Amino acid sequence: MKLALASLLAYTASAFGPSTAPPSAHARKPLISGNWKLNPQTKEEALTLARGIASAITDSTPDVDVALFVPYVFIESTMSVVGGKLSVGAEGVCPHSNGAYTGGISTSMIKSIGVDWVLAGHSERREIFGETDYYINAQCLKILDEGMSVMLCIGESLAEFEADLAGSVCATQLKKGLKGVRKEDLDRVAIAYEPVWAIGTGKVATPEIAQSVHAKCRDILAGMYDRETANMIRILYGGSVTPDSIDDLMAMPDIDGALVGGASLDINKFGRIVNFNKAGSLAPAN
Ligand code: PGA
Repeated sequence: MKLALASLLAYTASAFGPSTAPPSAHARKPLISGNWKLNPQTKEEALTLARGIASAITDSTPDVDVALFVPYVFIESTMSVVGGKLSVGAEGVCPHSNGAYTGGISTSMIKSIGVDWVLAGHSERREIFGETDYYINAQCLKILDEGMSVMLCIGESLAEFEADLAGSVCATQLKKGLKGVRKEDLDRVAIAYEPVWAIGTGKVATPEIAQSVHAKCRDILAGMYDRETANMIRILYGGSVTPDSIDDLMAMPDIDGALVGGASLDINKFGRIVNFNKAGSLAPAN
């Protein structure tokens, strides 16, 4: 992969101008989230992991929301061991209400067990399971209609990144994914910018690259709604986030949190990510 720092920074400078958003004009509470995907393999392991993560959230943890997206079968038991310290969400949902959709899980089902956050549009769902922007939009609308919150994942492939298409891919996915979403429901929407080339590859985007795409996404949201609304929406970064990268990512003005895959399966790593240092890696630890 041709992701040398110099070329990435050159790309960043050429692709996006400075953000027109006043970065600190609106306080957005950080949201650190974990995506367990098809892990762990037993209920016992899931509960050990959940307990450990919850115990890493202490009085000295920054003022942050924490959410874990876990496999359906672990949702209720995970909720029962985290002591209300974090939200336990679903990794996806079927947009149909009921009926002949074998294997589907509806929004009513997950709402009835206390779920308040649901992922939509993850690149693995798009690529492996063939979920389209149309289907993802139907999920978003259904989740919001049910009164829950949705985290809409967007992001470009490596080929698109190298062709300077990150901004336009994100614009398309935002516009199609949020089609018909009312402005008054946007306080229950978070965006996760996850460049596909960074997911599970160990190639985290530099904070500068992530910041520039986040600022671009905020500009797109301002065009879809208005600037004030765009400034309230949390935009998270995802893709190989680790304890080593979180502080500098969170120091960026338009990065409002993280969606963490691999490192959310490790209590120590995710615990450190939740206890990030907003001032960046060079500042003294919390
Ligand atoms: P990763 O996954 O942190 O393992 O790259 C992120 C994600 O897929 O949400």
